Order: sequence, then C-alpha cells, then structure tokens
Amino acid sequence: MTEADLVELVLAEEEKPAWTAAQFAEELYHPCAWQFVACHDDSSRFAGYICCRSVAGEAEILKFAVIRQFRGQGLGRLLLQAALQRMAEEGAGRCYLEVRDSNAVARGLYEKFGFRQIGYRRDYYSSPREAAVVYKLNIAKGVQKK
Ligand SMILES: CC(C)(COP(=O)(O)OP(=O)(O)OC[C@H]1O[C@@H](n2cnc3c(N)ncnc32)[C@H](O)[C@@H]1OP(=O)(O)O)[C@@H](O)C(=O)NCCC(=O)NCCS
Repeated sequence: MTEADLVELVLAEEEKPAWTAAQFAEELYHPCAWQFVACHDDSSRFAGYICCRSVAGEAEILKFAVIRQFRGQGLGRLLLQAALQRMAEEGAGRCYLEVRDSNAVARGLYEKFGFRQIGYRRDYYSSPREAAVVYKLNIAKGVQKK
C-alpha cells in the first residue's frame, strides 16, 4: 500500500466508524505495520486491502476489506493468504483479529484458514452496537487454507 492508494481506500470504507485518510496514513508509516492492496485483473483497479502489524512474534490483522463489486471472486482469500505468508516469513507464531459477531462471511473465511475463537467482547463495536469475536491462528500450523 502506498499514499496513492489512500483516496480509493477511504472511499471503499463502509464500516462505521470508518478509518479516516489520516488514520490510514498513520498506519502506512507505523514501524510495525504493513499492508497489501489487491488490484482487479488487468484493469489494475483498486479492489481491496489488508492492514496488519507484527511485533515480537505476534501479528494482528487490523483492517481487511474487498470493495463490494469485487467480492466473492477470491480476492479476500488471496489477501489473507498473502498476509499470513508474510507473517510466517517474519517469524510471527500467532495472528489475532477481531470481527463483528454477525459477520458470517468474514468469520467463515477466517475459520477456513484455521482461526479459532478465543474471546468474545460484548458491545465492542458501535453503530450498530455489537460484540466482537476474537480469533487466533497459530501460524506455523495454519498458513495454508484448510
Ligand atoms: C470478508 C471479505 C474481505 C471477503 O472478501 P471476498 O473477496 O468476498 O472473499 P473471497 O471471494 O475470497 O471468499 C472467501 C471465502 O469467504 C466466504 N464467502 C465469500 N462470499 C460469501 C458469501 N456471499 N456468503 C457466504 N460466504 C462467503 C467463503 O467462505 C469463501 O470461501 P470459498 O470461496 O472457499 O467458498 C469481504 O466480504 C469484505 O470486504 N467484507 C466487508 C469488510 C469485512 O467484513 N472485513 C472483515 C472485517 S474483520
């Protein structure tokens, strides 16, 4: 991800509260953070992104989305696979993330990759208020799609 991606990235935001351009920019330059962007086919259109951090053997997925019109075509799986691969290369042994309880698509994807629920945070999200499910993956055992 580069600064050139930021405008499209913020436009692609649908979740409330969304990250602002400033928040994405801060992430771009955070020393422990890295991101991947997916582009659609030969049109090279911005189609999705994943924002991660890794430090001291532990990694976290902070934000992850595919633009609505490009969903269901395997891009989410590719982004997640690429991120987990990089975490493995960096020596991270575990990856954590939080997801809305009702987000069945994302939860199904994470579980296919071997993520397991380790926590439940009631009222974690707002607009609408909802619980977060906390997932963990032991990377050495689970990089490949199950
Ligand atoms: C979650 C998200 C990134 C998945 O991206 P995607 O490109 O649509 O996903 P893929 O096409 O790679 O599909 C991966 C898996 O997701 C699940 N999935 C995708 N679309 C689905 C649908 N309409 N219904 C149910 N499951 C679905 C399937 O398990 C699928 O695996 P399969 O192809 O082996 O069946 C995308 O739906 C998205 O951006 N959602 C909004 C933002 C979000 O929820 N981010 C995660 C927050 S933690």
